[in-house]
Amino acid sequence: MRIDIITALPEIVRGPLQQSIISRAVAGGLVEIHVHDLRDYATGKHRQIDDYPYGGGAGMVLKPEPLFACLRAVEVGARATEAQKGEPEPDVDGQQSGDSGTEEVIFLSPDGEKLTQSLANTLSLADRLILIAGHYKGIDQRVRDRFVTREVSIGDYVLSGGELPALVLADAVIRLVPGVLGDASSALTDSFQDGLLDAPVYTRPAVFEGMAVPEVLLSGNHEEIESWRDKQRIEKTKKRRPDLYDAAK
Ligand code: ADE
Repeated sequence: MRIDIITALPEIVRGPLQQSIISRAVAGGLVEIHVHDLRDYATGKHRQIDDYPYGGGAGMVLKPEPLFACLRAVEVGARATEAQKGEPEPDVDGQQSGDSGTEEVIFLSPDGEKLTQSLANTLSLADRLILIAGHYKGIDQRVRDRFVTREVSIGDYVLSGGELPALVLADAVIRLVPGVLGDASSALTDSFQDGLLDAPVYTRPAVFEGMAVPEVLLSGNHEEIESWRDKQRIEKTKKRRPDLYDAAK
């Protein structure tokens, strides 16, 4: 999978991408991530990327020209090269960057469809995700009309930019890419994968500050353990998230 992140604030996204599971997925060649600084695609003396909204109103709007230029360089560039050569161009890691696979151009926005586990599962099957992090008051509507295939929100609250939402989406998707998690079954037993929250987990020591691990987990009886976990998941979901419980029933 290849993920491109387009942002006016590349430093916000670069740090977290260099940590933990995501960086291991990149180092292991399972995912390729490219961060694009919108300002590199701006022209003119001041390399202006935003402007006042037509019709007035507060806030600045990201201009169409740098976004169009960046999207064309990122999205259409590889295909144009392929057409000239008559064959797919190998990526840096030796894989083919053909246009036969699925590609989504996603604008992170509070207006979008809400990110759920189910949407993350769907997106993890794509070959390529291009994530646009907006800023200020938003992006010129023509970018959305021309390029964007999906708009995704990470929740009903407004953040100051799309960078953190882009990272949230990338993390939720990358951990589902086959081979990224050490234990292949662990992503499937996560909270939400079957609509229920996860059971409590414990590790050593068996007794800590007077609190003992539930006996059943020490029993070695896998059937009993599974049935205990199922019961815990149902009880916890019923109590904390009756909406999820009703949907899962
Ligand atoms: N940009 C600002 N707020 C956002 C949100 N809640 N989800 C996605 N993108 C956003």
